[in-house]
Amino acid sequence: MTLPVTLFSFNINDFGDQFDRALERLPAKEQEAVLRYKLSKDRRLSLGGRLLRRYYFSRALKLDWQSIDFVIQPDGKPALVHPQGIVVDFNISHDGDWVIFGVTEQPGMSIGVDVVAMNHDTYGPINDFISSFNDQLMEEERQLLGSMKDDRHRLTTFYQIWGLKESYIKAIGKGLALDLDQFCILPSPPNGVGSTSTKVRRLGLRTRRADGDDDDQAGNWCIHLDYLDSQSISVVCCGSRKGGSILDKDLVELGGTTMNLGDMYNGQPSIFTRLDPTTLLS
Ligand SMILES: CC(C)(COP(=O)(O)OP(=O)(O)OC[C@H]1O[C@@H](n2cnc3c(N)ncnc32)[C@H](O)[C@@H]1OP(=O)(O)O)[C@@H](O)C(=O)NCCC(=O)NCCS
Repeated sequence: MTLPVTLFSFNINDFGDQFDRALERLPAKEQEAVLRYKLSKDRRLSLGGRLLRRYYFSRALKLDWQSIDFVIQPDGKPALVHPQGIVVDFNISHDGDWVIFGVTEQPGMSIGVDVVAMNHDTYGPINDFISSFNDQLMEEERQLLGSMKDDRHRLTTFYQIWGLKESYIKAIGKGLALDLDQFCILPSPPNGVGSTSTKVRRLGLRTRRADGDDDDQAGNWCIHLDYLDSQSISVVCCGSRKGGSILDKDLVELGGTTMNLGDMYNGQPSIFTRLDPTTLLS
């Protein structure tokens, strides 16, 4: 399969002592933005994302690192200022030790990525922890979580659901303008709602406002869920909001390689290409 998207990951522990050198590769304005974070970890995560996007676009556009510009769109999603005005959607996520970057060059396609560092310290019973997010979950999600007998399994599934929702919010660029309790992502046909399979390869989107009907644009999206390491879930959500856009067959195939909701880490390699500082700063 030729991936219709480019996916990079970076682990901030790989910076070693090269943080300062790496920071210098950014324009002054972005250096300031990185240094505004108080914690060293947050600085590294922010720097990692900014390096990944410049690394990708400097090669794709054959431009010098410093001459690439980005803007923030009205709902917060960063966008490339393309020299020829072409829209190339990309997205970044950071959590734990990881930064991930995804980009699609297919016209009309949007992408959202989300990394979720699973925190197993729930400061009390897992059910109480999950219940504290009830107002951000829909009934179907609560039912799925409630049907899981094993606590670790339930917690993992909760984090996976979270990553799925975030990836979609980020793909459409809405950020917190879209309430997390207004939609849920369900296993979609051919498995169908009510099927025992929990593989979410295509977006089976249900919205509260639409009275439980599947969103008519849901079929235009593909989802891929897997792990960067045993503690870190990564989700890619890619597709189009325009009803008529046909999904690239490779994109559909990518969706087919996703894990089931609830699947635990099994050591399988991530679809993200991990970059090291030597490559990233070359
Ligand atoms: C901003 C938001 C889009 C993602 O936030 P997040 O999941 O905390 O953070 P992530 O690391 O995944 O994503 C942050 C990156 O997304 C990008 N981003 C920001 N706003 C965005 C938007 N509206 N759409 C898409 N991407 C956006 C930015 O590149 C940002 O990184 P940067 O600031 O270093 O450039 C938003 O959905 C949010 O704040 N969610 C948090 C909801 C929450 O309560 N989570 C608790 C989890 S237990």
